[in-house]
Amino acid sequence: MKSGKKRRVRVRLGRNSYDIFIGALDGAADEIDRIAAGRDVAVITDANVAACNLVEPVCELCSGASKLGVITLRPGEKVKTFEAVAGICSFAAANNFDRHALFAALAGGVGGDLCGFAAGIYKRGIDFIQIPTTLLAMVDSAVGGKTGCDLPEGKNLIGLFKQPKAVFIDPAFLKTLPAKERRNGLAEIIKYGVIRDRELFERLWTQRRSLLNFNDLDFYTALIADCCAIKADVVAADEKESGLRAILNFGHTFGHALELLSGFKLPHGAAVARGMSLAAKLAVKVKLMDKAEADRIDALLDFVKLTPKTPSAATPETVLDAMRGDKKNRGGRITLILPEKIGRVKIVDDIPENIILDLLGEQL
Ligand code: GLY
Repeated sequence: MKSGKKRRVRVRLGRNSYDIFIGALDGAADEIDRIAAGRDVAVITDANVAACNLVEPVCELCSGASKLGVITLRPGEKVKTFEAVAGICSFAAANNFDRHALFAALAGGVGGDLCGFAAGIYKRGIDFIQIPTTLLAMVDSAVGGKTGCDLPEGKNLIGLFKQPKAVFIDPAFLKTLPAKERRNGLAEIIKYGVIRDRELFERLWTQRRSLLNFNDLDFYTALIADCCAIKADVVAADEKESGLRAILNFGHTFGHALELLSGFKLPHGAAVARGMSLAAKLAVKVKLMDKAEADRIDALLDFVKLTPKTPSAATPETVLDAMRGDKKNRGGRITLILPEKIGRVKIVDDIPENIILDLLGEQL
């Protein structure tokens, strides 16, 4: 993206504050150079991103680095292992990267999380920046400092909070994505409207046709900035998720269970979309929200074709069992984020399991 609108969103975290730059990457060249110049830099990317020819332009923007290396991961959730994190650290060590080195994630959520985790532990912590390449990473995972990897026992079970030095989002990267991958990001965008911003939800509905036009870079620059601003606000209030930040997990308790039961064949965004629909229906069932509101959420998800099939291994019992393993749970109680109305959600942990089972029996 060579021109067009630019936005900047500040994540206010005291000494760990940083900016999110949204707009053409070229327009942020000075900022990237200011961070990378004179340092050993490793760009962590994946084979899909490399195939879209995004690596070379980023390396050019880092040309002031004292050393520059590129690590190309296999794409997909399966690579999100501790071995991959160790591999990134070994690359840095083998190339004598010092404690002033910088990792740059030029990747989607998986590569970004791995890169941040490696940055958090290499030589007890070095800086990193995020240059997200998927819509989902742009509006969610690249912002807020959650990093980590999966274990055979479950998703994101190890990791740390490590804020990036800056996030650079070029909405023109969206043009490189397959349609399915773009749709996944829309789930997280719709999430922001439901959890925190009714006006955003109304705008998404009114402009739903623009949502499917990924060539409208000005529209997407504004939308991504608005979503990042909501996330920045929540993260600033509760960086380490001791309370409020859990609302960002709306749809994720059901969603992670479905993702797990699909053997990770169901993409995260699609799983979250189904999870949001189920959480809204549960909110109606326990009389927290009107059915008309839940129907509006479903209508928007339907419009953008975020209505994935149920994985064959998902039965009410298997889904409930997988939900019992969710990281948010405390004292054996399932924690859920349920909407009270579009724009406001509540964190609850007192929904009886038989009601969740009934809901799953009706909906799966
Ligand atoms: N993706 C949820 C969070 O960053 O808290």
